[in-house]
Amino acid sequence: MINRRQFLYLAGAGAVNLLNVNGSPLAGVGMASSKDKDFIPDLELSLTAAPAEVQISPGELTTVWKYTGQVTKGNPDSLMNSDQSYLGPIIRTRKNRKIRIHFKNNLPAESIIHWHGLHVPAEMDGHPMYVIPSGKTFTYEFEVLNRAGTYWYHPHPHGRTGHQVYGGLAGLFLVSDDEEDKLNLPNKELDIPLVIQDRSFSNTNRLIYLPRGMHDSMTGMLGDTICVNGRPDFTLSVSTRIYRLRILNGSNSRIYKLAWSDGTPLTVIATDGGLLEKPVQKKYVVLGPAERIELWADFSKYPIGTSLELVSKYFEAAMQGTAMGPRRGMTGGDKLPNGAPFPVLKIDVAGEEKETRSLPNKLSSIERYHPRDADNSDNPRQFSFFMRHMRGLINGRTFQMQEVAGDEMIRLNSTELWELSNDDRSMGMMMMPTPHPVHLHGKQFQVVERSGALHRGYVDEGWKDTVLLMPGERAKIVANFTDYPGMFLYHCHILEHGDMGMMRNYLIT
Ligand code: C2O
Ligand code: CU
Ligand code: CU
Repeated sequence: MINRRQFLYLAGAGAVNLLNVNGSPLAGVGMASSKDKDFIPDLELSLTAAPAEVQISPGELTTVWKYTGQVTKGNPDSLMNSDQSYLGPIIRTRKNRKIRIHFKNNLPAESIIHWHGLHVPAEMDGHPMYVIPSGKTFTYEFEVLNRAGTYWYHPHPHGRTGHQVYGGLAGLFLVSDDEEDKLNLPNKELDIPLVIQDRSFSNTNRLIYLPRGMHDSMTGMLGDTICVNGRPDFTLSVSTRIYRLRILNGSNSRIYKLAWSDGTPLTVIATDGGLLEKPVQKKYVVLGPAERIELWADFSKYPIGTSLELVSKYFEAAMQGTAMGPRRGMTGGDKLPNGAPFPVLKIDVAGEEKETRSLPNKLSSIERYHPRDADNSDNPRQFSFFMRHMRGLINGRTFQMQEVAGDEMIRLNSTELWELSNDDRSMGMMMMPTPHPVHLHGKQFQVVERSGALHRGYVDEGWKDTVLLMPGERAKIVANFTDYPGMFLYHCHILEHGDMGMMRNYLIT
């Protein structure tokens, strides 16, 4: 099935040459070198990752790993640190801004930052081969080419991504642009980012990761405490206004089936890659790890004193425990399995204010792809995701740092049709069916076809960088691989699956 001779091994200097096609020298490991002499940043930041102590629950402080930042050049409002949380600062910038970011690694481990959803050169994307050791700095330089939207950043060292993100390392990267400005969407205190994550804490408030070892890696880490913006029992106090809620599922592996507790449909205005063409109404939205949605949330119709919840509803997740037998008295997945219902956050309608905005019926224009637009429309690339023998596989292959197979080579500027399938559906003893949210680095794509049970909860109308595949599901996506040649990752965004090798490179030449 797999011909070893088809593999292209990019080793040492060879990789440097291949990745150097656009003329910008590679960042050397640990070197804070300036990469492009002509690069004049509009915004310059420093981001430091280091251990920290935060008060998450009453009692003892929790030791976390945390990004903190500083603006060294440009608009000081471009960065907002949070001392209430383990989350990294929110970075806010605009399309076409040039950004330089100095990442200082003060962790007792190697690390690198990846800009999730951003379209940046391969050597600026935080591929695990660029990890820097403790004490070193990596300098990123890129222009923001993405449309307005809710993007994010997190570490990407191979085999340790799940651990580091769980420890607290993640932050939002919000982009605005002229098109979005014209819509006059709710802004400032009406524009609220909500990062949803699950964590497990010991009775002394320590974070617990993978308490059951390999079993938790196979299902993905599931915590029993839902945190929003790094806080358990999160309550949002609102006035009778319309809000823009930017929701990121920043969890390692948990899937949310989001709905309003009073049955009001969700009004979705954006997905991973920014605004939809027009708002979409959904009874519920199923959001896999790394996916984002933005909601138009109208609280103007509620009387003061109303309290409301954003909940996650029950769904069939092909739960762990079915094939491996029941398990009791342990933290994580058993207390709150994937698919169990729970409240995510509470809304208190507390203030009376006049609302004048109304929902625009057109938000943006998107050039919609059709499978026939792809250069390989008759012959889509097939990528099959499954776990076998405690390893994560894509087309039967596991991650190798600099390995690209024949079917992972892509021509620059080509428009491609990929068919992604979750082939974990057999219920045998060794094979636990599990979801696989598939993510591509480098480019936003469109979902052009889909099969699956949770279909009605997916928002496929806009640009995406992550697509959730439940066991047995498949999706066809179209992407146009422009601008940047080089090696990019694609992988399952259940971070434990990626760490177990369900990750591969694709090479654009
Ligand atoms: Cu957010 Cu490689 O991922
Ligand atoms: Cu990514
Ligand atoms: Cu997976």
